Amino acid sequence: MSRRTLIAGNWKMNGMSFDGIALAKGVANKIKAAGDTSFDMLICPPYTLISSVAAALSGSPLSVGAQDCHTEENGPHTGDISASMLKDIGCSFVIVGHSERRSNYGENDAKVLSKAKIANSVGLNTVICIGETETERDSSETINVVKAQILGSVPDSATAKNTVVAYEPVWAIGTGRTPTNDEVQKVHAVIRSQLALKLGADTANSIRLLYGGSMNPENAKELLSLPDVDGGLIGGASLRVNDFWAIGEGCP
Ligand code: PGA
Repeated sequence: MSRRTLIAGNWKMNGMSFDGIALAKGVANKIKAAGDTSFDMLICPPYTLISSVAAALSGSPLSVGAQDCHTEENGPHTGDISASMLKDIGCSFVIVGHSERRSNYGENDAKVLSKAKIANSVGLNTVICIGETETERDSSETINVVKAQILGSVPDSATAKNTVVAYEPVWAIGTGRTPTNDEVQKVHAVIRSQLALKLGADTANSIRLLYGGSMNPENAKELLSLPDVDGGLIGGASLRVNDFWAIGEGCP
């Protein structure tokens, strides 16, 4: 089953118009200069930059996504943004269930599931994030945690086209620490078999599983060559054109 690698950048709360648009254009220019790439690329700027980045990328194969969406289509939700609004301004993807949303806003699997469902229903693809905390890892709970998160956060209607799953150990995000390659492969294999129970083997074998957490140009090549790793969700290194591009170029 061939799965096309996805290199996704999560800019988090970074980027003003002057540097954000330059960053997006810098990545698009790399893709253009390379001609055909063997991998897909996605950037997820903050809400404030999505429209202008999408306009700047018109005609580029570089996709634009958001970092979160609301569970409802519209209504009295001050300060929130719906999936259809994101679609309207040029997003094709939205990240849901990032651990920073889960911990800072108390988002549980049920909420992440609702977000994924509404995003898919308006035609957005989702990057559904899961991953254990350091305490859970230390108590050997990693496998149980990711299994439960898959069961609770991934819609029954998920397909390989509308869904990507990102395994991001919380303790590896922004810390410079990563699990060993063996650990990553083991967890990804468990995620895929859990997806098979939920969605059937064909879908599970076609869904892209990203690794996220301190991925950088130095460690990307090995991580991306693991059999069940189909790309990366990259925070810090996605804010530098050359580093983000180098990660993609490291694809096997
Ligand atoms: P990081 O972030 O690459 O800076 O560790 C990854 C993420 O949070 O998606």
